[in-house]
Amino acid sequence: MNINVGGTKRNIRAVWYEEPVIKMIDQRILPDEFKIVDIRDTSELYSAIRNMTVRGAPSIGAAAAYGIAQASYLGKDLEEAGKIIKSSRPTANDLFFAVDFVLQHKQEARKYADLYVESIVERSRLIGVNGNELIGDRKKILTHCNAGALASVDYGTALSPIRMANESGKKPFVWVDETRPRLQGARLTAWELVQEGIGHNVIADNAAGFLMKRGEVDMVIVGADRITSNGDFANKIGTYEKAVLARENGINFYVAAPLSTFDFTIENGNEIPIEVRTEEEVKEIKGVPVSPKESAAYNPAFDVTPTKYVTGYITEYGIFKSSELGNLKTKGKDSILEQVSKV
Ligand code: MRU
Repeated sequence: MNINVGGTKRNIRAVWYEEPVIKMIDQRILPDEFKIVDIRDTSELYSAIRNMTVRGAPSIGAAAAYGIAQASYLGKDLEEAGKIIKSSRPTANDLFFAVDFVLQHKQEARKYADLYVESIVERSRLIGVNGNELIGDRKKILTHCNAGALASVDYGTALSPIRMANESGKKPFVWVDETRPRLQGARLTAWELVQEGIGHNVIADNAAGFLMKRGEVDMVIVGADRITSNGDFANKIGTYEKAVLARENGINFYVAAPLSTFDFTIENGNEIPIEVRTEEEVKEIKGVPVSPKESAAYNPAFDVTPTKYVTGYITEYGIFKSSELGNLKTKGKDSILEQVSKV
């Protein structure tokens, strides 16, 4: 992604590897501060994923792939490193997909981690190319959380079609759900859109229905953390209600994700493990309390949207209806290498 920080232009990825150090943009402090964090071993990587220094399903997968390469460089037990990395967060399929993929090729962990990440970048670009075909001139698109380059190493998943539409001169406009409690929309999606010069408004999470009913939303595009065989999918908490509202208002609702996010080992969304995070994330904003200290809070990080609400799945292989997802099911982990030759 092209960014301009303090007057300096850079082309940068959300996460990359300078052996033996994994580098990542610190997504906890944007847009106030732009900082690169160095990860020197598996335990630091575990914490960085857990505390969301790196976040977003494909970026977590990329960091995890590099984590196996790093553990190999450091002469560690790779299976053990894989177990630790996988235990950092439970919901995003990409984490497990990436670790298993590199472990399948553990004799050449560095090479396959690099191939994995190049593939994710190319897949994110192709999601943009395919999704751009759905976007007409001057359309108003609502998105939730951050499914941009920060979340997907580069380009993004939900934001990739919007980037491509913008580059092809269509002038898309984005309604950015703030996405409490961690504000990935207000902080990260808005930051990316500012960097790209794409028109947008940040909205309170509870403003979407009002805008949809008024005819101010032409389509919804969101990312996903895990998509099951029948097309049910987990994404950031609040996605489900946007899908229901979109259906109620006759608005097309798309999910954008690469192969690494699909989990064909489970049938439906009831089987997706949902991460529950700390009460503080709800009771505080940027460390400032917003609730009485006596109040308890409940903080599920993801919800599951049933496939019936999804108009289509925007993937690197094309756009599928839920009844067509079987086309992807036959693809094994090594299919992730298919795109690399084109990079
Ligand atoms: O908790 P997060 O910020 O990692 O959750 C991220 C999301 O829900 C994204 O929408 C999803 O990972 C898709 S990212 C391309």
